[in-house]
Amino acid sequence: MKRFIVIGHKALTSGDFSLNDMPGSAGRMDVLCRCVNSSLFLSHDLRRDVECYLVLLGEPNPPKTILFSGERVRYLNPDERSAGSLIKKALGITCSDEFTESTKGVYIRRGGLERLLSEFQVALLDEHGVDIRTTDELPEAYLLSDHMNFSEGEEDLIRDVQKVSVGPKILHADHTITIMLNEMDRREKPSEL
Ligand SMILES: C[S@@+](CC[C@H](N)C(=O)[O-])C[C@H]1O[C@@H](n2cnc3c(N)ncnc32)[C@H](O)[C@@H]1O
Repeated sequence: MKRFIVIGHKALTSGDFSLNDMPGSAGRMDVLCRCVNSSLFLSHDLRRDVECYLVLLGEPNPPKTILFSGERVRYLNPDERSAGSLIKKALGITCSDEFTESTKGVYIRRGGLERLLSEFQVALLDEHGVDIRTTDELPEAYLLSDHMNFSEGEEDLIRDVQKVSVGPKILHADHTITIMLNEMDRREKPSEL
């Protein structure tokens, strides 16, 4: 399984936002929606071996984590509003410490980065990291930030994790995911494609 974890520093933790204004009314939820789409969509198909975790840190009840499973997701179309609508539905259900399915293949729980770091072997995607083209073993999960820098508290949590780079320039998070998946595609045996 390939996993991407994206931190939404201002992303709302209630469904009280407009799909017509996800950048403004939802704390840049549009960035997270694009990350879901980059993680899961191929042309006319889905990447069933990918999971995308969104860590929402905005008001009113942070932190919450929403999981999109490429294997199980339904009702997701490749436009931002579609992912936004599934996120809204997830934020509308009662949230506990364990993942609860809100719509097929979309789950929500309380908690954020610390728990995910304890669950997976996570690498940080960072332009100053080791060039991904020179690494033999690819980690199982990759952490990205949204449009903001990681906070001091997050920096403390990820101080010792491996840093990998997809290139020298700072890219948007969704573009970074696309490049990372392309690198994985190229390494897979023809039988796995
Ligand atoms: C738009 S950047 C974050 C904003 C950035 N910290 C800033 O304000 O300058 C989004 C995320 O994409 C990832 N990223 C961007 N460029 C990258 C690169 N060249 N290699 C690896 N990851 C990259 C990082 O995880 C980063 O947190």
